Amino acid sequence: MDKQTIALLGGRGMLGTALTAAFRRRGFEVHIHDLPEFDLGSIEHLSRAANAADVVVNCAAFTDVDGAESKSQIARRVNAEAVGQLGRIARESGKWVLHFSTDFVFDGRLDRPYVETDAPNPLSEYGRTKLAGERLLQDSGCDCCIMRLQWTYGPNGNHFISKLLRRAQAGGPVSVVDDQIGAPTATAEVAKAVLTMVDKRITGLYHFANAGYASRYDVAAFAFERLSQPVALMRCRTADFPAPAARPLNSRFDCRKIQALLDGPIAPWQESLEQYLRQL
Ligand SMILES: NC(=O)c1ccc[n+]([C@@H]2O[C@H](COP(=O)([O-])OP(=O)(O)OC[C@H]3O[C@@H](n4cnc5c(N)ncnc54)[C@H](OP(=O)(O)O)[C@@H]3O)[C@@H](O)[C@H]2O)c1
Repeated sequence: MDKQTIALLGGRGMLGTALTAAFRRRGFEVHIHDLPEFDLGSIEHLSRAANAADVVVNCAAFTDVDGAESKSQIARRVNAEAVGQLGRIARESGKWVLHFSTDFVFDGRLDRPYVETDAPNPLSEYGRTKLAGERLLQDSGCDCCIMRLQWTYGPNGNHFISKLLRRAQAGGPVSVVDDQIGAPTATAEVAKAVLTMVDKRITGLYHFANAGYASRYDVAAFAFERLSQPVALMRCRTADFPAPAARPLNSRFDCRKIQALLDGPIAPWQESLEQYLRQL
């Protein structure tokens, strides 16, 4: 059988890099498309990428959460309109699409983990544009799978964990919010689930995160303890650090829907984070 070809949009970003490695290990041929030579907002670029592959995996997004508040036009063009266009092209060419969304579609006010059927209510422009992208993709009528992710980290990115480690290296106390709750989610663990979704061409909306829950403060304490790094860790509240974009306090996902499709249990966040820290 010929090698399956994957058009990986945004393939040089944090998640895209992890997926490239996992797809290649599995024997897929990966076509990486990213800025500057590929623009998700270009119909021509999208058509060319989709038509040259068996499936399309879209990691491309405007991911600057605070920047999206002042650059809402570009965030909407990339996170919403281009995703709708991708859906129309996929429908016409009969291609299955895997797309990623976020916990920022929720306001985080629920007192339990979010399930896929909970009503979204984004607090930020980033969340609103990502939610619009989900809806435009679903409305396009293509065969698609949307995986909502949260608190992701990996070797090739600027994220909560890498920022923590940099702040600790700079010396002095490190303040971390203890009122945001979720699960740090390794791109390597996302990649394992993605392989199943691609193999089975699963359609629908799914929540995915590493198993278990913790506050950002708890995650920081765990990481510094595992690294045997003495750091003066201080608790603070989200309200102490006003940012342009509001964040949901409760980012917990209920992942039972996707877990039922996977071959093995999703790893606890501690296990994946420990592995990541060991490889640093
Ligand atoms: N990181 C998280 O915590 C998190 C949480 C939940 C969901 N997600 C979702 O997961 C997906 C992947 O995110 P990530 O963490 O891998 O983000 P990332 O590292 O910022 O990767 C996004 C990639 O898309 C590219 N891109 C931006 N605008 C583009 C355009 N117009 N055309 C083509 N490519 C473009 C970026 O290029 P440049 O770097 O050159 O801009 C980058 O390579 C996104 O859909 C994101 O919303 C992420």
